[in-house]
Amino acid sequence: MIVTIDGVAASGKSSVASGVARALGVPYVSSGLLYRAATLLGQDAGLDLTDQASLLAYLRDHPLRLEPLAEGNRVWQGQRDLTPELHSSAVDQGVSQVAAHPEVRAWVDDQLRALTPPFVAEGRDMGTNVFPHAPAKFYLTASPRVRAERRSRERPEAVEAIEAALIQRDALDTTQSAPAPDARVIDTGPLTLEQVIVAITSQLPS
Ligand code: CDP
Repeated sequence: MIVTIDGVAASGKSSVASGVARALGVPYVSSGLLYRAATLLGQDAGLDLTDQASLLAYLRDHPLRLEPLAEGNRVWQGQRDLTPELHSSAVDQGVSQVAAHPEVRAWVDDQLRALTPPFVAEGRDMGTNVFPHAPAKFYLTASPRVRAERRSRERPEAVEAIEAALIQRDALDTTQSAPAPDARVIDTGPLTLEQVIVAITSQLPS
């Protein structure tokens, strides 16, 4: 079975998906990491991120591999582990531009659909577009300030700057970020990580 956990930037999707996956004894799959890795490669190669064709050609020549482990996903390019470089502010800033390209989205979707269930998939459009038949779907929200405060523990910038960047990324991501009609929406603002995980695992079909 597939559980989908979508939501806005820094709503806690990865930590929640990892916790739910561990509770179920299955891997979780972070779709955002593939968009981030595509962005990093494009930036490193000095490509114009608005140029979909050259980005895709580069990605086809430099295949990436998502390793979906329950304790944390990794992205590999050959023997190179890109994971530690994927959460920089530079990647944060470029990723929405890359994720707006329909063919880049198709490139990510193909890789996700090739994975063998069961797993917990997290991102923006797991429940709407990639796995529309998943039997259990969740969508996480929280106010921009709460999300910025959480992310400020992982970034060197001030909370205000992080909040502004999150609001901008939300705006750029709106096309692919709507909850599925059959998703349960959870406001994670007042909840601890453990409470969100329990809110999800307690609602899963047996
Ligand atoms: O953790 P955070 O929400 O900040 O980011 P992420 O899940 O790693 O996603 C990074 C970016 O990838 C998002 O801002 C979107 O632009 C894009 N993305 C997407 O378009 N569709 C997905 N399924 C997952 C991520």
